[in-house]
Amino acid sequence: MDIREVLVVGAGTMGHGIAQVAAQSGWSVTMYDVDEKAVAAGLARVRGNLDKGVEKGKVAPADRDATLARLRTSTDLRAAAATADLVVEAAPERMELKRRIFGDVAAVAPAHAVLASNTSSLSVQEIAEASGRPARVVGMHFFNPVHLKPLLEVVRTDVTSQDALDTVLEVGRRMGKTCVVVKDSPGFATSRLGIALGLEAIRMVEEGVASPQDIDTAMELGYGHAMGPLRTTDLVGLDVRLGIAEYLDRTLPGGRFRPPELLRRMVAEGRLGQKSGRGFYDWAAKK
Ligand SMILES: NC(=O)c1ccc[n+]([C@@H]2O[C@H](COP(=O)([O-])OP(=O)(O)OC[C@H]3O[C@@H](n4cnc5c(N)ncnc54)[C@H](O)[C@@H]3O)[C@@H](O)[C@H]2O)c1
Repeated sequence: MDIREVLVVGAGTMGHGIAQVAAQSGWSVTMYDVDEKAVAAGLARVRGNLDKGVEKGKVAPADRDATLARLRTSTDLRAAAATADLVVEAAPERMELKRRIFGDVAAVAPAHAVLASNTSSLSVQEIAEASGRPARVVGMHFFNPVHLKPLLEVVRTDVTSQDALDTVLEVGRRMGKTCVVVKDSPGFATSRLGIALGLEAIRMVEEGVASPQDIDTAMELGYGHAMGPLRTTDLVGLDVRLGIAEYLDRTLPGGRFRPPELLRRMVAEGRLGQKSGRGFYDWAAKK
């Protein structure tokens, strides 16, 4: 399917990055948010990313200018969705909010439009049902920071049409991403495996098998992981990881994702990782 206009819903951490790579790939993009300040901040972040790219010699100044010229902002969802061929939703991770957005977008978007969610854990099927046109709905799970991370996890439900799937795979390729296709299931491939490794690493700290530093070094040097599981947990946030683990524990059988006591205790104590200054590592000292 031919894409001309892309609408990104939400201009936060992920939304601004998705809008940037879509505009850099040549589409005309609207970045929408309910919050005017978020829209302005999102646009400033895109500009900052592109300026840094120019400084490093990775983005030509003319491409930066052309990208910015293709990017519009909006706080009017109905107007923004009316002409969109592809909508990528990147609003907060709450089911009722995403369902409302998909209902609102589907009420005005053209019938051929593909509607995608950037959810990192929620059921795409449940989001899709709220649109009234679930065959056009697919998951597009980008990674942070979107303009630098090369992966796109594409999530298809039992009713996603082949055309919608092919469209987002083509969009991903044109954005320079490597796509993997995963069935709609809790945690998809990335969160499920990432959390499994993270939880086991926390259990190993709990059991005194090795220090966080040594566990991370083991995976970094022994297995070539770019970052060990505990440092990753500190960066993502222990509270965020606990939330996903609880969700996977509820939705997947066998107790494989039961959160370790140490994780619960650290979250209760406010040791959330980098954002609170302390997690498995002391981040305050590193600043
Ligand atoms: N942050 C990450 O590392 C990451 C990675 C992959 C996927 N995700 C997923 O991406 C989605 C967005 O996460 P984020 O980190 O960008 O969140 P964020 O909080 O940085 O941004 C969310 C934005 O959505 C806006 N918003 C709130 N209600 C809205 C509405 N009704 N319509 C439109 N916009 C609305 C907010 O104003 C905010 O600007 C979530 O589903 C999250 O799970 C996040």
